[in-house]
Amino acid sequence: RRKIIIDTDPGQDDAAAIMLAFASPDEIEVLGLCAVAGNVPLSYTSRNLRIVCELCGRPDAPVYEGALKPTVRPQVTAEHVHGRTGLDGIELPEPTMSVKATHAVDFIIETLRAESAGTVTLCTLGPLTNIALALEKAPDIAGRAKELVMMGGGFFEGGNITPAAEFNIYVDPEAAKTVFASGMPIVMLPLDVTHQLLTTKARVEKIAALGTRPAEVLVAWLAFFERFDIEKYGSDGGPLHDPTVIAYLIKPELFSGRDCNVEIETQSELTVGMTVVDWWHVSGRKPNAKVMRHVDADGFFELLTERVARL
Ligand code: BDR
Ligand code: CA
Repeated sequence: RRKIIIDTDPGQDDAAAIMLAFASPDEIEVLGLCAVAGNVPLSYTSRNLRIVCELCGRPDAPVYEGALKPTVRPQVTAEHVHGRTGLDGIELPEPTMSVKATHAVDFIIETLRAESAGTVTLCTLGPLTNIALALEKAPDIAGRAKELVMMGGGFFEGGNITPAAEFNIYVDPEAAKTVFASGMPIVMLPLDVTHQLLTTKARVEKIAALGTRPAEVLVAWLAFFERFDIEKYGSDGGPLHDPTVIAYLIKPELFSGRDCNVEIETQSELTVGMTVVDWWHVSGRKPNAKVMRHVDADGFFELLTERVARL
């Protein structure tokens, strides 16, 4: 059973990831969930995170609030994809559970120091601001995490917020640079993987057929989330990015990739936030991440559906 901390900016696809984690107690123990500014401002990501916990029947889950904005740059948000609240798609009651008083950055540091070295996995579903701030404040934690598994970046597939950059990395490229330079073992789930995971009608119908309240809410969220890609690109659904992080922990055999060096562009106006992945090992730079490229898409959706049924 893996102990994990989820750092997130919900986000409908973040919500699906959190649901997958809570529905998998045999494989995953959620030590805490941290909100970060990203898809929408922190006040909304914190609220949304608590809505998801309550939907999963986990109002007891420890929720922490982290960074209000990126480490260096002004905040960039993605209401064009996720809606005004970040979790548009269905009217739900405001959450009643509370947020812990500890700052998310301190929770991350304290947990990595308190638990045995090499036992806690950091799961990041949004910009890397909280993790970078924790690494700057307590560099020793780099050697204590088992792994950092992130949804972020893109290489053969290009970017989704600029031609070169994926949203999570683009929002706080300086933070991403700190994380990739930290020496922490990193697994990266880029757009190259997540763009293979479209919420097609057939797949969403299987979730809807579960007939439970969590399934019904998830389907409403996905219907909102996918409309951006369907309207803009005429695709068969939306790319389900963030649940890849949790699916990787449960069934790593669904994914394949390579150890590569990854550097983050922070200077060029045109390509800021780009993940420069040395897939062909041409640079001679040392690999610092396991970069995933392929996924068994049907296996992924089967897993998600089977687990959501348990909520
Ligand atoms: C990432 O950006 C966000 O909009 C999604 O939640 C996901 O984490 C995809 O680029
Ligand atoms: Ca996200």
